[in-house]
Amino acid sequence: MDPEEDTSWRDEAPGQVDNESSGKKVIIVLENASLEIARLAPYQKMQLLNCDEHQAILRRFNRDIADARPDIVHQCLLTLLDSPLNKSGHLEVFIHTANGVVIRINPECRIPRTIKRFSGLMVQLLERGSITSEHEGTTKKLLEVLQSPLETYFPQDCKKIALSCEARKVKLYKYFAEEIPPGKPVVIAVGAMAKGPDTFADRYVSEKIGISSYALSASVACGKVCCAFEDLWDIM
Ligand SMILES: C[S@@+](CC[C@H](N)C(=O)[O-])C[C@H]1O[C@@H](n2cnc3c(N)ncnc32)[C@H](O)[C@@H]1O
Repeated sequence: MDPEEDTSWRDEAPGQVDNESSGKKVIIVLENASLEIARLAPYQKMQLLNCDEHQAILRRFNRDIADARPDIVHQCLLTLLDSPLNKSGHLEVFIHTANGVVIRINPECRIPRTIKRFSGLMVQLLERGSITSEHEGTTKKLLEVLQSPLETYFPQDCKKIALSCEARKVKLYKYFAEEIPPGKPVVIAVGAMAKGPDTFADRYVSEKIGISSYALSASVACGKVCCAFEDLWDIM
């Protein structure tokens, strides 16, 4: 299927993971994500707050417009779910919003390609608590709001790190090859926000790493992580 074909949140099976490779698991957490809904004029419809359409209301409530950036989450999800790492079944993605909402993304979920459709989907998710698909009599949760705390959903004995431009710089491939013990899953927290200190995962990570000399967008940072693991695990 053409990856640019917008089939909204229809599911698409990722590749099978054999037993040998099933210990090779990366869990990406999009931290500090701005996904917030509000009932807004003129139609009193639930909408996903964003800095393009809702500047006036954000200002009225003394909110920084830079905090309403659901497009950052959208870009990251497209990068992550389109990656060979995800298609080969080695990736799991969570969103942790700035308001503390935990969302699990099924690797089979096809994220809408346009921000408008994505926003509609997020409104449905945050109102209903889940988005499901029906196939041959079975129901699958493609997106799901989970009970806090986030850490409950991490595998036992996993390595937990955060990406930060302020941290010691490493070469990703070399770092993953040397620092991730074989068969041990790894949790990587990425800041899905426009600005601010990278302290979003201080509660649960044991280490922070820098991956470039430049301040990257969250989506580019996610892409670099996927590419490094694809190289390391020989995923084409
Ligand atoms: C646009 S940055 C936002 C926060 C960043 N502290 C800032 O003020 O620019 C998005 C996220 O991408 C990751 N990131 C960006 N550049 C990075 C780098 N050079 N090394 C490691 N992670 C980086 C971090 O997780 C960061 O929170």
